[in-house]
Amino acid sequence: MTKISASLLAADFLNLEKEVLRMKDAGADYLHYDVMDGSFVPNISFGMGILKQVSALKALDMDVHLMIEQPERHIEAFAECGAHIITVHAEATRHLHRVLTQIRSLGCLAGVSLNPATGEEALKYVLGEFDLALVMTVNPGFGGQKLIPATLNKVAAIRKMLKEAQVSARIEVDGGVGADNAQTLVRQGADILVAGSALFGAKDPAALIKVMKG
Ligand code: DX5
Ligand code: ZN
Repeated sequence: MTKISASLLAADFLNLEKEVLRMKDAGADYLHYDVMDGSFVPNISFGMGILKQVSALKALDMDVHLMIEQPERHIEAFAECGAHIITVHAEATRHLHRVLTQIRSLGCLAGVSLNPATGEEALKYVLGEFDLALVMTVNPGFGGQKLIPATLNKVAAIRKMLKEAQVSARIEVDGGVGADNAQTLVRQGADILVAGSALFGAKDPAALIKVMKG
């Protein structure tokens, strides 16, 4: 069954607790937590402190997306702050295999994310070492962008790659996801849909989640 990860980047930060509970009540499965360092991506978002407070609410599992250079420096801290899934970018580390092992050794699920211009072959030699492939369907750094259509084929290619290797891992898509493209993404092989602006901006998020889950 398709899962929804609500991206807190689009939340109203003056009412963060309410926003978290609003997404839980609407039927979201995870809270997507976008960490940006102003170097790997042009924007800076939030770090460990807010993650610790949000995870202490115990509302939903935290799906942490690290858009930071050399993520290995901070994995332990994010795990301690309550991350359930920790996803790093293949482009942001020289030692992807090692970081994935590190994430799992801390009891978290390990994710690998690929920018729109990175091919699925970046996953080839770490198959079996990750629990989640996060396909960026926009260039990371900002919410509210339009999905890049060329990324759809990548989702299907990763699904095929996992099947052929008989490896089980989930595929998550992130960026520009909404009611208009959710089912297409699921058909291509996506299991988890991240939604930020579409979901937090919706008048009736529960209805939108129903439509997106199909
Ligand atoms: C973008 C982030 C996304 C973002 C998605 O760099 O990784 O998680 O919050 O936002 P929307 O759904 O608005 O495209
Ligand atoms: Zn994200």
